[in-house]
Order: sequence, then C-alpha cells, then structure tokens
Amino acid sequence: MSDATDFSLRDPLSGVDPQFPTRWSPRAFKKTPVPDNVLARLIDAARFAPSCFNEQPWRFYTSNQQNFEEFLHLLLEGNQLWAKNAAVIGFLVVERHFARNNTENQHARFDAGAAWMSLCLQAQREGLCSHGMGGIKYDEIATYLQLDNNSHDVVMGFAIGEIGDKTDLPEALAEKEQPSPRKPLDEIWPNRHSAG
Ligand SMILES: Cc1cc2nc3c(=O)[nH]c(=O)nc-3n(C[C@H](O)[C@H](O)[C@H](O)COP(=O)(O)O)c2cc1C
Repeated sequence: MSDATDFSLRDPLSGVDPQFPTRWSPRAFKKTPVPDNVLARLIDAARFAPSCFNEQPWRFYTSNQQNFEEFLHLLLEGNQLWAKNAAVIGFLVVERHFARNNTENQHARFDAGAAWMSLCLQAQREGLCSHGMGGIKYDEIATYLQLDNNSHDVVMGFAIGEIGDKTDLPEALAEKEQPSPRKPLDEIWPNRHSAG
C-alpha cells in the first residue's frame, strides 16, 4: 500500500481496526507477479468465511502468466483499461444448490461475498490490493470456465496486485484514484437511536 494514499475522506470511529477503513480498491496496479504461495494464502483466507449450513458455495478461478490475456478479455472494456496492469485477474463463482438436499441455496451469493472480503483483507496484509468488478462478460466467462449453467453462477470478477502509480492511469480514472467516502453510521443503522 502506498504511503501517499490520502484517506482523508474516511472517518471511522476511534477503535475501528485500521484494516477496514484502509482497504480500498485502486485501479493503478504494478505488474509485479504475485507468488503462487501468496495467492494461495488469499484464497485460503476466503475458505474460513461463514456460510449457510457451512456449504462454502464459493469457487475462485484465477489467471496465471499463460492465460492472463484470456482472463483480461473476459472483462468489459472499461475494466480492461486498468486491470491489464494487475498481476492476477479472477472470477468468483457460486454453486447454486445445497449439497445436502439439492435445493436452491438462496444465500450462496451472500456467503461468497463474505469469502471475497476475507480474500481482500488477506491481500491487504500481504501488501497487495484487490478490486472487484461487476463489469464482466458473464456468459463468456461461464463458457470459458466450462461451468454448468444449471448449477453454477458467475458472481463477479476481481483484480489483485501491488498498487501502482495513478499517473499511469487514463486522466479520468486518475482523478478518481482515492479511497472513497462512506455513508454516515446513522444512515446504515437507522434504528440506532429509536426508543424501546
Ligand atoms: C460486486 C462489485 C462490483 C464492482 N464492479 C466494479 C467495476 O466493474 N469496475 C470498477 O472499476 N469497480 C468496481 N467495483 C469497485 C467499487 O466501485 C468499489 O468497491 C466501491 O466504489 C467502494 O470503494 P472501495 O472498494 O475503494 O472502498 C465493484 C465492487 C464490487 C464489490
């Protein structure tokens, strides 16, 4: 993480662990490779997320040096612009049905989100950044990964790597390259002060 990062738009309460407000999603990445054992720790951190009936419906697919360009072209063009400099591109997939009774798992995406956040925080501990992407080619990804559409959904894409220099980004992206603000606590906790 760059020391020059300006976190002034972030206002955690005193005592909130800094790992939460200092996690952010840059678009400027360095091409430094992420060693396989480090990437394994990121995915392993995700393994310990909670999930409904402990079904662990998340599946992570990641690029390597050989297929990076193929993964890159599965992103929408706006994301390719900056993600091309990331070290790793990945896709988060969920298994849609409970293994226990083959019924639809309504919580699969929620659980996958928890796993994704674990990955992000482990990345931060490794000195890496992560950036989620909804702007991806869902159908093409399912075909590329040879997923069974009846049982698996592509949830999101992500980029991982060392933070880079924002001056290397296109101007419009460089202007936005700063940790974003958050809604006030009262807005996301509407009944905090209600009586009874
Ligand atoms: C599911 C999801 C989809 C996202 N899609 C994109 C995307 O397609 N392109 C992009 O540049 N950022 C994308 N983002 C990043 C968000 O814009 C970013 O997380 C949000 O603005 C909060 O900023 P922060 O992560 O720096 O705290 C996505 C994030 C998530 C979690």
